[in-house]
Amino acid sequence: MSTPEHVAIIMDGNGRWAKSRGLPRVAGHRAGVEALRKTVRAAADQGVRWLTVYAFSSENWSRPKSEVSDLMGLLKLFIRRDLAELHHSGVRVKVIGERDGLAPDIAALLEEAESLTSNNRKLNLVIAFNYGGRDEIVRAARKIAEATLRGEVDPRSLSQEDFAGFLDTAGIPDPDLVVRTSGEQRMSNFLPWQSGYSELVFLSCYWPEFTAEHFNDALRQYASRERRFGGRMPQDVERGVAS
Ligand code: FPP
Repeated sequence: MSTPEHVAIIMDGNGRWAKSRGLPRVAGHRAGVEALRKTVRAAADQGVRWLTVYAFSSENWSRPKSEVSDLMGLLKLFIRRDLAELHHSGVRVKVIGERDGLAPDIAALLEEAESLTSNNRKLNLVIAFNYGGRDEIVRAARKIAEATLRGEVDPRSLSQEDFAGFLDTAGIPDPDLVVRTSGEQRMSNFLPWQSGYSELVFLSCYWPEFTAEHFNDALRQYASRERRFGGRMPQDVERGVAS
């Protein structure tokens, strides 16, 4: 079975999971953190090299203040509680998204997580935090414009690879597989540049219900897909098969 090198996940449905149990939304987010822990283990067990998770979008600031503060609190707790174990398991943590404007304690924790784990190689855990795909692309365009003004970039010869080097995900392979839970079938501004050729798997379970079995199911679905990247399958081209 071909294992994807990079799996990206939209962890959706915490609120609905909580509501269906008569619990406050924060209970859904807490259970979501537990599902995330299990997923990191499942990804490492399956030999996935990169796991990106959508933890907080640039648009999530529009949620009620109390929910935003619950999510910030959970991120802090996750890093404080789990960082040592992630480090011992060989996980390298990388954070993508806008850092400017984050509370200083959050920004410091994110930096600590990245620097402590920077030499680990077992699994790369990319946390998309204060992340929005369009915002990332605009920030990249700004950096390119500034580099152009400094004479470091010639815009006439700027390639797709050059452009990608200005994104938060510079150096990270594009996701092979994007998984979204909760039955919704949309991308919600998650990795729009990077997911151009990703396989998409939508699962009906809410994120807090997500287990290693769901993860493996998504990998099986991925393995059964034919990826063409806009071209044709090499064996068909060889055989001269008309499509
Ligand atoms: C979507 O559920 C989930 C989020 C907005 C945040 C995802 C966060 C976690 C899994 C926990 C936090 C983890 C870290 C590392 C900070 P939703 O609230 O949109 O659910 P709903 O669509 O059912 O309302």
